[in-house]
Amino acid sequence: MKWLFIASIGMLLALNASAARKPRTPALQFNPNSGVKASLTMPDGRVVNYAAYTRLYFVTNIEDSTYQYMNVFVPEGATQQTPIFLRTYVGGYMASQAGGPQAEDASGRALAEGYVLVIPGSRGRSSTVKRGKETFYTGRAPKALLDLKAAIRYLRHFDRLIPGNTEKIITDGTSAGGAMSSLLGATGNNPAYEPLLKAMGAADGRDDVFASVCYCPITDLDHADMAYEWLYGNTDSRKSLPESKRALTKELAAQFPAYINSLGLKKPDGTPLNADNYSEYIKQIIICSAQEAKDAGADIADSLGFTFSAEAAFQAPINGGVGLTRQEGRAGENPPMMRGRGERVGEYITGLDMDRYLNYIVSTQPLKDVPAFDSYNVDGAPASGENGEFGNERGSDVNFTAWAAAKAGGALSEEVRENVRLLNPMRFIGEGMTSIAPHWYIRHGARDRDTAFPIAINLATKLENAGVEVNFKLPWNRPHSGDYALNELFSWIAEIVK
Ligand code: DHB
Repeated sequence: MKWLFIASIGMLLALNASAARKPRTPALQFNPNSGVKASLTMPDGRVVNYAAYTRLYFVTNIEDSTYQYMNVFVPEGATQQTPIFLRTYVGGYMASQAGGPQAEDASGRALAEGYVLVIPGSRGRSSTVKRGKETFYTGRAPKALLDLKAAIRYLRHFDRLIPGNTEKIITDGTSAGGAMSSLLGATGNNPAYEPLLKAMGAADGRDDVFASVCYCPITDLDHADMAYEWLYGNTDSRKSLPESKRALTKELAAQFPAYINSLGLKKPDGTPLNADNYSEYIKQIIICSAQEAKDAGADIADSLGFTFSAEAAFQAPINGGVGLTRQEGRAGENPPMMRGRGERVGEYITGLDMDRYLNYIVSTQPLKDVPAFDSYNVDGAPASGENGEFGNERGSDVNFTAWAAAKAGGALSEEVRENVRLLNPMRFIGEGMTSIAPHWYIRHGARDRDTAFPIAINLATKLENAGVEVNFKLPWNRPHSGDYALNELFSWIAEIVK
């Protein structure tokens, strides 16, 4: 009996000692008393007061302390019911350090609207850490997305301590950041990311969001080259390329119809959107965009390829008199009050010569090379940023489409294939394991040539077909840019959070 007692004590001591030796993972931290008061002066002079909670590390296994934290800004008057606006500053698939609110962009505007503002940092294709003397790239796909998901889980983890309604998280980003925003909306709670998040020490729990705002998302990277050459392949600029590049353009463009048809998309009227009618569909969206701008007073030059109705505007009768009727032989001319502003004849845009319009886009900014995205070692081309995004810890550039890998004399590894999937929102919409955001705001400028129109159109259409609300436009004459027309954005947000 005595021996048994002594043995038991010994075992307990041994257990305690091993527990003491094992380093305990530190828990996630949030101190509700750590807020620092500050203010932001908006462009109209209005001053917004808020409390800043900064350097909130959202994982426990911090790999890169420069990027894996976020800042939270709580405006005066915010409650647990206040929507949360999460702005990622990811650009170029690069790392992004958490900063502060900017009066000129959507972050400051969100604060001024009274929303809780969250700015997470995230690792990117450029970020490195030192292990001993060696340098490792630890931010390559899908690490930025994982960091952003971890930030969202952190908000839910401390839901009761941090003001703001985690059921009303609205994400916003531009370009690669727009891609991140689309991924946050399209991959909520998807189990594919779970083991990766666990390994990082992200909080357990949900990472779905309420709304995704995506400005010019550079996404669907594995189909971006075929879409680009399909759209721009017949522009004068492409026609003047050497024969070897022309051949690549042709090969890539030829892959696009099968891809479009594989998506099984439907137009808003329920009829199929496919390779046969896709060009016409784009044309109609561009015409709508130009018409909206024209209605708002913009001068749309017919030199861009537009044609206008012969009908001129009708001039209202003055003081009960008879309105100015069109004079004989002057049909199609605008009435006097509309002349002199470069106003085109006719109120309505009736057609668009797409070849001419695409050449106009290229005249404002040269196209990317061929291939535009997965270029590494294809016909001697250098690596793109995207090749870096799918690179490995050693900083190598890597092909991410089977076509380019074959051209470069290699093949895709399973690991790269999976990383490409994890970074493509199109793979997750309607896939069944995802809590998809119920609200979407997608913009791609009508002269943005950083990626082809079909990338944004397919994303918006697939989402609409999945039954979520999508506010989508190719805004007139916008180049590759974001956080514009903030009145329009924030009116939409006010509607959806009601
Ligand atoms: C961005 C722009 C690009 O043209 C691209 O290929 C990737 C990212 C950007 O601005 O984030």
